[in-house]
Amino acid sequence: MLVIRDLVKVYPGPVTALAGVDLDVPRGMFGLLGPNGAGKTTLMRILAGLLEPTSGTATLNGQPMLDRPEQIWEQLGYLPQDFGFFPHLTGERMLEYLLSLKGVTGKSGRLALRDELLDRVHLSFAARRKVKTYSGGMRQRLGIAQAIAGDPRLVIVDEPTAGLDPEERLRFYRLLSELAENRIVLLSTHIVEDVAVLCSRFAVIRSGRLIANTTPASARSAIEGTIYEGTLSPDSYHKLLTSSDHCVTQAYLVEGNNRVRVYQPEGSPPEGFAPVAPTLEDAYLVLIKLGRLYGLEPEPLGVSAALKPTTNGAGAPSAVGKGGES
Ligand SMILES: Nc1ncnc2c1ncn2[C@@H]1O[C@H](COP(=O)(O)OP(=O)(O)OP(=O)(O)O)[C@@H](O)[C@H]1O
Ligand SMILES: [Mg+2]
Repeated sequence: MLVIRDLVKVYPGPVTALAGVDLDVPRGMFGLLGPNGAGKTTLMRILAGLLEPTSGTATLNGQPMLDRPEQIWEQLGYLPQDFGFFPHLTGERMLEYLLSLKGVTGKSGRLALRDELLDRVHLSFAARRKVKTYSGGMRQRLGIAQAIAGDPRLVIVDEPTAGLDPEERLRFYRLLSELAENRIVLLSTHIVEDVAVLCSRFAVIRSGRLIANTTPASARSAIEGTIYEGTLSPDSYHKLLTSSDHCVTQAYLVEGNNRVRVYQPEGSPPEGFAPVAPTLEDAYLVLIKLGRLYGLEPEPLGVSAALKPTTNGAGAPSAVGKGGES
């Protein structure tokens, strides 16, 4: 179990990137969702020992992580958001180099480990190709190979699926799920689909605060019966957007008209709108707009942070639509 308590990070500026995060992360795949600038990378870099927190603690299976990060490095794997590559090296040379940086000594052991890792991430076939010829998904898999060297208990991956096409994303999902069978995999993303497909639990972070810590099923059922969908002309869509009676969660164009979903916990939905089954995307968008999901049952893990009302402007629910603040 990874246990994070009251983690605060204030960058010079000052910019409060984390405003007191409490989170318990059990074994398996755990998603950290949040919009750009929410604080995901900051949290992950702190856990990886690359950035000093302003205050707060984190323990991995009871062992403190933040005071002497080097003591816990062996149990940690990290794939950063901006993983650097050496384009002219072959995949196997690059991995060998990264393993030497990680302190894997002894050439023959290192080569054996390199080959085993390449096999693990399904890259043996491209071991001798230059990294510059790799696709985005292949690069991410090479990044994962270095992150899982030494069989770490905790693997941290920061937005690994950005820019991957659907097929590569699927392959990467499979690899992550395999890894999460016997360790903690903490995955940050702003793609709700990643979480819906992969994670048994997830947390949502916004402006440096956790605003939910739950399961995909609970998040969906919290808004059951409140999502309606309908089709609108561009004109009516614009009117709806400026109306204070409705909260639009999603809108997409279909043959020139707007297919629109609204969150309507009380009052009437727009004319012609019909109730639909909520998706995780709806739940996430309501959360991001309102700052909390009414009806979300307290969960046994990390409860305090998830549902605590926020007290200052940064995390306070913004007034979107009607009925959210009852
Ligand atoms: N080195 C820094 N100095 C000052 N402010 C920073 C620094 N790094 C990040 N920030 C700020 O801290 C906040 C959180 O940034 P962070 O990169 O952790 O967000 P994120 O959730 O990872 O975003 P993204 O989805 O875009 O990767 C942002 O407001 C960002 O501008
Ligand atoms: Mg980031």
